[in-house]
Amino acid sequence: MVEIRHLKLITTIHKAGSLSEAAKVLHLTPSALSHQLKQLESSLDTAIFYRTNNQLLFTPSGKEFLKSAKEILSQLSQMKDRIQDIEEVQLEKYIHGFSQEETRRLYDQASSIEQFLHWDSTWPDDSLILEAGCGVGAQTKIIAPKNPNSKFIAVDLSEKSLKQAASSIQELDIKNVVFQKADIKKLPYADNHFDHVFVCFVLEHVSQPIQVLKELKRVLKTGGTITVIEGDHGSTYFYPDSVDAQNAIQAQVNLQQQNGGNANIGRSIFPMLQTVDFKDIIVNPRQIYVDESKPKLVEGFIKSTFTAMIKGIAEEAIAKKIISKETMSKGIKDLLQTANGGTFCYTFFKGKGTKS
Ligand SMILES: C[S@@+](CC[C@H](N)C(=O)[O-])C[C@H]1O[C@@H](n2cnc3c(N)ncnc32)[C@H](O)[C@@H]1O
Repeated sequence: MVEIRHLKLITTIHKAGSLSEAAKVLHLTPSALSHQLKQLESSLDTAIFYRTNNQLLFTPSGKEFLKSAKEILSQLSQMKDRIQDIEEVQLEKYIHGFSQEETRRLYDQASSIEQFLHWDSTWPDDSLILEAGCGVGAQTKIIAPKNPNSKFIAVDLSEKSLKQAASSIQELDIKNVVFQKADIKKLPYADNHFDHVFVCFVLEHVSQPIQVLKELKRVLKTGGTITVIEGDHGSTYFYPDSVDAQNAIQAQVNLQQQNGGNANIGRSIFPMLQTVDFKDIIVNPRQIYVDESKPKLVEGFIKSTFTAMIKGIAEEAIAKKIISKETMSKGIKDLLQTANGGTFCYTFFKGKGTKS
């Protein structure tokens, strides 16, 4: 059975010029590489190379195999690029969108819950820190000034958000951040490049969070840490309770799921970090509890963050028939009702792991 690894094996041997060089490129031992080669030759029932004077010369069958292998690998790579393009277009449709209201909401969200999420967002001086999926820089403008002697590279795929982030950082005269456009699934950085990685409210929107975590781990130095912050809509409860409000929240969970994300991802930070083999993992829940005695949170969290988020997805959820217009309107009204003498609870999860 010819496998993709066999195609890579033969094209790499051709490129590298020898078995030992190819073994280095493929991170294999020379004997593992010879074994794979023998397996391939026996499954094809033909020799790929003439083995003479320690030289590897392609046989006629070997030349044909090499030609086809190059074509197939190139087609595979083109297919990957085309899928990547589709993903980028879909990003433009990610459920919160990139409107002015959403920009405002992200800033309100970050500032209203800063004390809960960021009292411990500090890293040793002189660290190089990657912020993955920085959006409009709502977290960046909190964490960068808290770590004035470290440098941040903040990346996102949305050019529009990056421009907004850069201008808000400039306004605050913050000088230790560089913004770059990059896909967190395929980062343009070498292995072991960053001392630490920070990612907030991003994994909930990607269809393959484990793939993203693997990529973030790749660019992280051994001994470096990853910090992940995510919400979990299943952690929401409030007074007065309302089935319509619960249905409105569930509509966002369902919509996000249809778009490949997971609005209840907070509870899975620990197992996800474990799957990617981070060590010394610690996850703390950061519960936001709001009542009348906390007027800033009533405004900043219940109204401007949480209910604004549900309002922001209402139109799309109704258009996709996930929820009726009536239930959504009543649900939003009931969520706002919790700001008038009621109470509201929501839990964010902040996890940290070390690359060993
Ligand atoms: C909800 S926003 C959070 C932004 C910021 N971290 C915050 O907490 O305010 C999610 C961000 O992830 C970005 N994003 C999603 N998929 C991405 C990808 N594959 N590569 C880079 N950024 C991505 C989106 O463009 C968006 O700006």
